[in-house]
Amino acid sequence: MKLKGHIHYVGVNDRVKHRFEGLWILPQGVSYNSYLIDDEQGVALIDTVDAAFFGEYLDKIKEVIGERPIDYLIINHMEPDHSGSLQMIRQVYPHIRLVGNKKTMEMVQGYYGAARKDDMLVADGDTLDLGHHKLHFYLTPMLHWPETMVTYCETEQVLFSGDAFGCFGALNGNVVDTQMNTAAYWPEMERYYAAILGKFGAPVQTALKKLAPLTISMICSTHGPVWVNEAPRAIDTYRRFSQGDTEPGLVVCYGSMYGHTQRVAEAIARGAAEAGERTIIVHNLSVSQPSFVLADIFRYDTLAIGGPTYNGGLFPVVEDLLRRLCGRSVSRHRLGCFGGFTWSSQAVKQILGYNEKMKMELVGEPVEWKQGVSADTLQCARSLGKLLATRA
Ligand code: FEO
Repeated sequence: MKLKGHIHYVGVNDRVKHRFEGLWILPQGVSYNSYLIDDEQGVALIDTVDAAFFGEYLDKIKEVIGERPIDYLIINHMEPDHSGSLQMIRQVYPHIRLVGNKKTMEMVQGYYGAARKDDMLVADGDTLDLGHHKLHFYLTPMLHWPETMVTYCETEQVLFSGDAFGCFGALNGNVVDTQMNTAAYWPEMERYYAAILGKFGAPVQTALKKLAPLTISMICSTHGPVWVNEAPRAIDTYRRFSQGDTEPGLVVCYGSMYGHTQRVAEAIARGAAEAGERTIIVHNLSVSQPSFVLADIFRYDTLAIGGPTYNGGLFPVVEDLLRRLCGRSVSRHRLGCFGGFTWSSQAVKQILGYNEKMKMELVGEPVEWKQGVSADTLQCARSLGKLLATRA
């Protein structure tokens, strides 16, 4: 599928994998995007696809170049959803030279034992001239692995961005945003960011600054649509999420064994609603999938977290969310907390302990109760909801 000039899309869709990285559910599948530049003087492949799709992938490559060999495999990212076909590509094209930075080559050797002396080691700002197409390589470490880099085609003003600006969701016939309704992909970009890149706000900011001088007319990431008209929106999504920009809204996250914590969560939501909060999302953490919860937390400015004390500690699904938040850039959020116990108070204490790492602004007094929830407890919860809905 031709994208622009001699740049072709040769990616594949995965509608079978249940969880990306074994963690994040894929209700609409995922695409593994790979690109082929068919220049007169040299053919370059940019990233590969998951090994399970190699047959289909090779057919797509041969549809473009026939029996012509590939000269370069540019590796923007080594995670196996993109490097998985590397060894098989090397078997089919034995003279292909890998192009990557020092960390890439260490991983090529570590994962596949496949590094060679004639591979092309590149540093930040290095270039590769394919004849018509002039490529520039920019190192963008920790987007989201240490070796991650991007490739910019100066000739066509195309940025091959690796995972950056990518999203969950397989591609349904069309590849480029100008040819499709992209509405379903935007929440999936936010979910992808929150799940995969959420820890790396500072490196994302550094990369955005480095890439800012480039004129970009097309973004070709490794997942989801190719962005043309909506490239500025993709960049803005990364800018907002990486610097912790949020919209007004309350996300109430709770775990509950027998419904007491749930009643408190509902009372917080009701109190916020009475105070005029219009966007309120309530997640039962035993039911909601973590990536959807994280995406909502990244988007909205205020969070309430609560759960019961369990086995002398915190209820596991609540602790799981707090652990995930400690590893992500969410410190500009406002936080309310609530928790119950039967004989030994732990939940609230532990949520507050996690907040020493999360560093969110604590709003109001935590709502805490022993055993069943009383009318007074529910009233305190409504009051906390009102406070959470009231911003300076
Ligand atoms: Fe799409 Fe980080 O791999």
